[in-house]
Amino acid sequence: MHIQRVVLRNFRNIAAADIELATGANILYGENAQGKTNFLESIYFCATGRSHRTGRFRDLVMLSEKEAAIKIVTQGQTGAVDEIRMEIKPEGKFSAINGLPIRKLGELYGRLSVVVFSPEDLSLVKAGPAGRRRFLDMELCQLYPAYYHDLRMYHKVLQQRNSLLREAGGGAGLYETLDVWDEQLAEYGNKIMWARHNFIERLGRIAAENQRNITGGRENLEILYDRDVNESEFLAALKKKRPADILRGTTSSGIHRDDLEFRINGEIGRSFASQGQQRTAVLAVKMAEIEIVRQEKGYPPVLLLDDVLSELDEGRQNYLLNSIDGLQTIITSTGAENATGGYSRKEGARVFVVKNGAISPAAKEG
Ligand SMILES: Nc1ncnc2c1ncn2[C@@H]1O[C@H](COP(=O)(O)OP(=O)(O)OP(=O)(O)O)[C@@H](O)[C@H]1O
Ligand SMILES: [Mg+2]
Repeated sequence: MHIQRVVLRNFRNIAAADIELATGANILYGENAQGKTNFLESIYFCATGRSHRTGRFRDLVMLSEKEAAIKIVTQGQTGAVDEIRMEIKPEGKFSAINGLPIRKLGELYGRLSVVVFSPEDLSLVKAGPAGRRRFLDMELCQLYPAYYHDLRMYHKVLQQRNSLLREAGGGAGLYETLDVWDEQLAEYGNKIMWARHNFIERLGRIAAENQRNITGGRENLEILYDRDVNESEFLAALKKKRPADILRGTTSSGIHRDDLEFRINGEIGRSFASQGQQRTAVLAVKMAEIEIVRQEKGYPPVLLLDDVLSELDEGRQNYLLNSIDGLQTIITSTGAENATGGYSRKEGARVFVVKNGAISPAAKEG
């Protein structure tokens, strides 16, 4: 599966673009603040219905305009061509596949698998747990539409439970109503825990191997599921903590408090990992993500590399560039040729220049 064509209208600072991509390497050059990340974001948004940078869809529409549209034409392994369309309007966002509107994001997931690797990801090990949960959820949603459904239902029930806790203030009948919400929360929560548990184990195994390869066997990476509560104990925990939850007006246990823990040579990454070790771990994890998509789908994802090469030293750059051979990749870079490790000279590579929201093929050299 690869992207043939990307057509944009009023997406952030890109008024109009119509780009045909190479099936392998694509490089977008441009100075800062020209629209490189915006272009990648449009692809991520069309694939997942979310932005990896903002939760406010309005931000994605060009200032002074009302609507934005993205169209992506993909070609699958069998040659079948699909068109995914996404529109952001004042009333909300609308998507369609081959002209047929889709109502739930779940139907969109998995149509176009993307893995994005941006400088913000480099802080995955040390930043707060919310970022690690988002990472987990975005991966799992793309792989399994059922996960997306369970997660959505979980958050819906959680919200209802929390408003009940705040509003009812211990009034009559509260416990009976909580019984109903708690059952549902545990039902969806347990499915999510199970999926997270399996995914983390698999991710951890592949990432550990990658980490050993990158460091010549010097670093042993472990990724552990730091869960808030066990599947078998979730319902009991919800019941037990009710009095405290009523006082605080919020639900204190559940998958919304899960975390991931990275350990490098036995030490907790969050507190001890050096910059280099963190970067290696994130690289190892991203490569593992690609591998899992490949195993699950039977073909690799499209890789969006946002100016990340310049953040990696030569050894890690080479590791990355060697591992992504054969993938459709879109790389952004601010600068010189060496910033993409000679990637732009690869056979069939296409190079684009991004300037003030305009994206055009670079003039051929020589
Ligand atoms: N809704 C919007 N309407 C118009 N312009 C926007 C909107 N959202 C963001 N921009 C502008 O888009 C510009 C380009 O952003 P982008 O993040 O794509 O830059 P970039 O080329 O990736 O730069 P860098 O190399 O610094 O990462 C920014 O200057 C920003 O102000
Ligand atoms: Mg950028």
